[in-house]
Amino acid sequence: MCGISGVVGLKSISNLLFEGVRNLEYRGYDSCGVALMNKTRLIIKKDVGGVEEFYRKHNILQLKSKIGIAHTRWATHGKVTQNNTHPFTSRDGNFALVHNGIISNYRPLKDQLQKEGFKFFSETDTEILAHLLEKFFKRSQNVEQAFVKMLSLIEGTFALAFISSHLPEQIFCAKRESPLMLGIGDEIKFVGSDFNAFIDHTKNAVILDDGEYAILSRDTYVVKNILSKEEVTKPITKIEWDSETSKKEGYPHYMLKEIYEQPQTISNALDMETSELDEIVDWFAKSRNTYFLGVGTSFYVAKYAKYIFSRLAQEFFPSISSDEFMVLANVKKQSLVFAISQSGETFDTLSALKHVKSRGARTVAIVNVMGSSIARLVDKVVLQRSGPEICVISTKTALSQMVILTLLAMKFALKKKIITRKTYNLHLRALRDLPAIIQGILNERSGFIHRLASRYSGNRNWLYLGRGVYYPIALETALKMKEVAYIHAEGMSSGFLKHGTLAMIDDDVFSIVFVPPPEDKVLYEATLHSIEEIRARSGFVLGIHFTPPRKNQDLYSEELILPSMPPLTAPLIHLVTGQLFAYFTATSLKCDIDKPRSLAKSVTVA
Ligand code: AGP
Repeated sequence: MCGISGVVGLKSISNLLFEGVRNLEYRGYDSCGVALMNKTRLIIKKDVGGVEEFYRKHNILQLKSKIGIAHTRWATHGKVTQNNTHPFTSRDGNFALVHNGIISNYRPLKDQLQKEGFKFFSETDTEILAHLLEKFFKRSQNVEQAFVKMLSLIEGTFALAFISSHLPEQIFCAKRESPLMLGIGDEIKFVGSDFNAFIDHTKNAVILDDGEYAILSRDTYVVKNILSKEEVTKPITKIEWDSETSKKEGYPHYMLKEIYEQPQTISNALDMETSELDEIVDWFAKSRNTYFLGVGTSFYVAKYAKYIFSRLAQEFFPSISSDEFMVLANVKKQSLVFAISQSGETFDTLSALKHVKSRGARTVAIVNVMGSSIARLVDKVVLQRSGPEICVISTKTALSQMVILTLLAMKFALKKKIITRKTYNLHLRALRDLPAIIQGILNERSGFIHRLASRYSGNRNWLYLGRGVYYPIALETALKMKEVAYIHAEGMSSGFLKHGTLAMIDDDVFSIVFVPPPEDKVLYEATLHSIEEIRARSGFVLGIHFTPPRKNQDLYSEELILPSMPPLTAPLIHLVTGQLFAYFTATSLKCDIDKPRSLAKSVTVA
């Protein structure tokens, strides 16, 4: 949700600033802008479009400066126009500022500034901040004091950074409920919305907490509390990720690369210290009521967890979408809330967790990004170690979360003596076999899936159907299709079909059905019934299944046959095929794979 990058160094930093903001582009990519310092004069450039296009069009790399800030925007307040693009400058041109978040009280502040003669050129909530800096600087002649005064007036959420011609060798930045961190190098300092802004240059990060601001110069930095203005001693966090894993490595898109990384991310998840998970299992056992929480893909992972805990551990733990959590969940002191979030920054999930904490309940989260807001908020965090996921569309992180949740359900079932150690070991074997099976699918079936996806890429309406634990898989793979190919895809439990949606079946509405292995007898038979219902109305069915149909040869209009799998891990294989189907449909349609329109990787606004 917008990316902020800033650098102050010894030599020209234009190229570093470019790399930083380009690496953050997955957070938003409507428009881009930079502020650089020419001796003591600010140079501002901004335009609509992506980072590379903007840099090329305006020859930004030719501009030499030892300090600068940059921004890549995901529009919230105001359309995608050049005027609404960050940075914003003060009336006198001495301050240039970039912001991520929403200033909720910007209207009264703007009215007041207008009365005082300040002119506004954008529809954004951010522009007031540059004017406030000028206004308060005029009074105090002190940049830091003006900054703190401005921070004390604004409400809402922010990660912001500015440079000023009054102090041309310093970057000022602050944070409240939007992520911001510092990168600490020798004779060079960075600020960024996340590690990707500087991971190529330093692995030493200082993660700002809410209510803190920082002042950076090339050889030093200081972090202070906004209210007390006292200095805060902050630990250095070592970034574990390797910058190489953030590169495409020959894949045409990050989405494909990340789908292909799944065998490795599953192995990483399974190599996790079991003691990390055992404590959580104890918490499940002690909790009065447990909820799973997440939004978007992470909500579908939470839904998957609901089914897998019911099936393995005979426990019903509701899953609630983060945006609905506060109106729905009945959290008490003895409750346990288990959140799922790739980024660890999603506003809705973070807000729900804060609400849970205010009720005194326990919180756990599976998160991929160390040091993220959710990772730091919850009582216990499981770092899933999937490596950076750059594509806006989640793939490898979701699968890895499902594997970890399956492992937790198995452990809980074992603790409750619902399964024996022998069954537990069989399940564990099935999980450990997954990476090789997925590798086989990627090697041997992706060409077939590609052809199938190209053949049907003209179809504008899909129903994605699955029963039981295959229902969240249907929802998640339908979301992939919507996000990456902009095709209407409705995920549904196949048993629900006959209660209304069946009326939609005609030549223009196609169905994909995720068929369980025949050993999963009840679900398998029920799924076949749903297919019959569609076929009886001459509907098209792409069946993804594990065995050729025994009797009815024309059960499917098209089929994709997968290697035989144990019921425990079969849904996860379906997930991978659904990811590939969406990816290849989108490439056939020449969609912008890694940066779909209107989306952003981490949604840090309400
Ligand atoms: C996934 O493909 C989407 N980009 C989106 O639904 C995402 O899963 C959701 O915004 C939650 O993000 P999180 O996992 O980072 O909390």
